[in-house]
Amino acid sequence: MIGVFDSGVGGLTVVKHILKRFNSDIIYLGDTARLPYGTKSSSTVLKYSIQSAEFLVSRGVDAIVVACNTASSIAINTLREKFSIPVFGVIEPAAKKASSFNKVCVIGTESTVSSGAYPKKIKKYKESVEIEQRACPLFVPLVESGWIDDEVTYLVAKKYLEGLKCDALILGCTHYPLLKGVISSIAGSVELIDSGEALVELLEDDDVGELFFGSGQLECYTTDSKDKFSELGKLFLSKHFNGVKLTDL
Ligand code: DGL
Repeated sequence: MIGVFDSGVGGLTVVKHILKRFNSDIIYLGDTARLPYGTKSSSTVLKYSIQSAEFLVSRGVDAIVVACNTASSIAINTLREKFSIPVFGVIEPAAKKASSFNKVCVIGTESTVSSGAYPKKIKKYKESVEIEQRACPLFVPLVESGWIDDEVTYLVAKKYLEGLKCDALILGCTHYPLLKGVISSIAGSVELIDSGEALVELLEDDDVGELFFGSGQLECYTTDSKDKFSELGKLFLSKHFNGVKLTDL
């Protein structure tokens, strides 16, 4: 059983790739009551990440996937020190994939961008990569409101992404793959790197086998409205979505 957490529904974009490749049994936690993480201080994100991981460990998971770029950029090392089970994040896989390009743009939450986690990791793989970062804080509330293909979202994206020049664009927040259509209509023909997809590709290479393969059971928990979570969850995981339970951390 794999435990996956995010501040909201964004991490379901990662779940989608994990289910598709490994058909894993997953316990998912969306900490919607405290969303967004991306505008909070590092110490707050760290505290929330530990509590989310503790919740999943208390449910008996064999590994944790931090399906949140903000939490991965701030808390991954602490989570790995604190818990004896494997902890996988989304920054390293996307950074590795991006390092095969010359000019990379990273979009993410304010916390992810200011942590500098992506530039540090990308340069670890290839020092010469030119990197530009842009924080896109309004994307998360737009996705959580279900405004995926809305003219307001398009205008916001235009403001954030106009003038962008790169070969690859890291969608450095797990909510952003839901906005792929809007983002590529503005960014043009750049390679979009989805951090969840990159994680699954890396897991395949690492041959994690037994740990991830399962029968596709998905159990979802949220810390706020079950109805809102179910509505959005169904939109993106129609095949595997089996309802949602309320919890407190
Ligand atoms: N989906 C998250 C991420 O990948 C967090 C968004 C937020 O809570 O601000 O960063």
